[in-house]
Amino acid sequence: MPNPDLNPQHIQQQMRQLIQLLQQHNHAYYVMDNPTISDAEYDSLFQQLQQLEQDNPQLLQADSPTQKVGGQVLDKFSSVVHQVPMLSLGNVFNFEDLKHFARRVEERLPNQAVQYEVELKLDGLAISLLYEHGVLVRGVTRGDGESGEEITQNVKTIRNLPKILTAQNGEKIPERLEVRGEVLMPKAGFDKLNRIAESKGEKTFANPRNAAAGSLRQLDANIAASRPLAFFAYGVAQCEPHHGLNSMHDTLQWLTSLGFAIAERQWLVNSIDEVEQCYQQVMQERAKLNVEIDGMVVKVNDLQQQKQLGFLSREPRWATAYKFPAQAALTKVDNIEWQVGRTGTLTPVARLAPVFVGGVTVSNVTLHNIGEIQRLDVRIGDTVSVYRTGDVIPKVEKVWQEFRPQHSQVVELPKNCPVCDSPVVMPEGEALARCSGGLYCSAQRIEAIRHFVSRKAMDIEGLGDRWAESLLHLNLLNHVADIYRLHQHRDKLLSIEKMGEKSVQNLLDAIENSKKTTLPRFIYALGIRGVGETTARMLAQQFQSFDALRQADIDSLQKTPDVGNITAEWIFDFFQAEHNLEVVEQLLQSGIEFEAMTAPTRQPLNGESWVVTGTLASMGRDEATQKLQALGARVSGSVSSKTKCVVAGEKAGSKLEKAEKLGITVLDEQQFLELLAGFEG
Ligand code: IVH
Repeated sequence: MPNPDLNPQHIQQQMRQLIQLLQQHNHAYYVMDNPTISDAEYDSLFQQLQQLEQDNPQLLQADSPTQKVGGQVLDKFSSVVHQVPMLSLGNVFNFEDLKHFARRVEERLPNQAVQYEVELKLDGLAISLLYEHGVLVRGVTRGDGESGEEITQNVKTIRNLPKILTAQNGEKIPERLEVRGEVLMPKAGFDKLNRIAESKGEKTFANPRNAAAGSLRQLDANIAASRPLAFFAYGVAQCEPHHGLNSMHDTLQWLTSLGFAIAERQWLVNSIDEVEQCYQQVMQERAKLNVEIDGMVVKVNDLQQQKQLGFLSREPRWATAYKFPAQAALTKVDNIEWQVGRTGTLTPVARLAPVFVGGVTVSNVTLHNIGEIQRLDVRIGDTVSVYRTGDVIPKVEKVWQEFRPQHSQVVELPKNCPVCDSPVVMPEGEALARCSGGLYCSAQRIEAIRHFVSRKAMDIEGLGDRWAESLLHLNLLNHVADIYRLHQHRDKLLSIEKMGEKSVQNLLDAIENSKKTTLPRFIYALGIRGVGETTARMLAQQFQSFDALRQADIDSLQKTPDVGNITAEWIFDFFQAEHNLEVVEQLLQSGIEFEAMTAPTRQPLNGESWVVTGTLASMGRDEATQKLQALGARVSGSVSSKTKCVVAGEKAGSKLEKAEKLGITVLDEQQFLELLAGFEG
């Protein structure tokens, strides 16, 4: 980010850099219809330049975009000069600055009461419409404010825009009327348009504003006609003969009577405090509006007073935009740290110089994974745009390469866990890296303990849900092996609230009893990624002893039914992490014993794919599935040419039909029971 304490040469360099950037973005926005940054980011750069110019007026650059409205006219539409320039509004971002605006207004109108008319600041595109004798003859974009593009054909397709004005109560229609307002795409229409585009695999629009801009710029009016655009009027640039109205408020009412739509809400107030109330209220209700807005517009209501106030270079003195807090802002990445989640995932988090975005101060933002860091090419020391909408968590949207310091630091995935130092692993094809020290890593311990003591694992009743948290706080559980040392801390256990003599004894008994377990349960209890109950059972059967499993290489792990190459890698990595081995050793030392493994069961259906369908009278489908799995079959939910056999109970439907069509063997319940009996014998 530009550093304000620099010598004039540096300041001028910064100004040139900002001007060049703003010009590029103006081109992308106005000419290419393809903004590369958000409005808020643009504002932020614009303000930086303005500040530099204010602090160093002697260095003001002649081509600075602060000195003109910006934008160019495309040559594919014909260009039209605005008889009354379409200027823009000054911005305020907080109540203090709004009060300054009001003070400047009121100082220029001594001894006059000032009413403010408050409108929604519609986030679309300003256009100008010319009516001659009540007939729409021309529509023109704002362009650079001095001249714009003639888009009459497209404008005529906007459904809520009157093509012919209707006079009410015998009023006369002006001979020549130029109305100004905003074209936009209401949120509902925008969502629908994007859904349709998505279903056709076409490009979607980033936001309603871009969608509206893209639609208006179509050379083929049929395309514009298919887009749900709307027009809302907010001013009159010319009227002959003069309408004779005295205020903004009356002007809007009159436009309504001629057939124009105006924004859903507007307020007429007597003080700047009331403007603030409107602003706060709308900020709360913004999501409920039919259209996108990016703030409010505060206008002096009386047209005579407006005239008296006039303009200052590019902006009227009688109106200002009161913008909602920036949804994007620039800040610096002070550091990128890796956080270890409860399941061992490593997430990079950028520590930022605190920045105010969308109403909150943001100082940390997740970068999700190493892939995202590489995609953004974000480095420590970089200047980044932080973006935030509504309740959505803030994100880094862009890295400003232009502001990259010479010694920016590239961030790589750490080789070891920042919490427990175990190796970090990331199998090919996975986006997330993990700490392999699942049993030992203190970031993962609460999850590891809950899993270890759960019913299908070591089954230590009460420990997981009730006591684990308190035991952690008392430093009694650093990892799962400490569970079998809890009996040494009876006194500390008794000090826990609601932990009486009896519950302590019950807990210690449950822990003691859990030592007599089975190999599959123990393997499952270790919480190795990818190893659920079934896989644990398969591993136990395959390797027959814990020692054989812990020494297995990837190839032999992969030979286990149910273990694919990624799971094999996870298992291998788990037993490579020294700290895990320490904990496992301690567990085994504490006297955990496995029931003798039964001789390896015969697996006559090994590798075959079976399907169970319909209702069986003698057992549920789950039980049938388990029996088939025990015989080595894989049980699948759908029939394909790879299916070896289908067990069909009563009311078997489409799966049976498909099996018959494919000529696959089908067993009825009786045949299935006979088959099972045959294997048992
Ligand atoms: S009045 C002299 N009223 O804001 C300019 N503008 O930054 C008078 N806008 O280009 C503009 N809602 O596109 C006015 N209720 C509203 C508005 C509004 C949105 C836009 C308009 C203009 C820009 C000025």
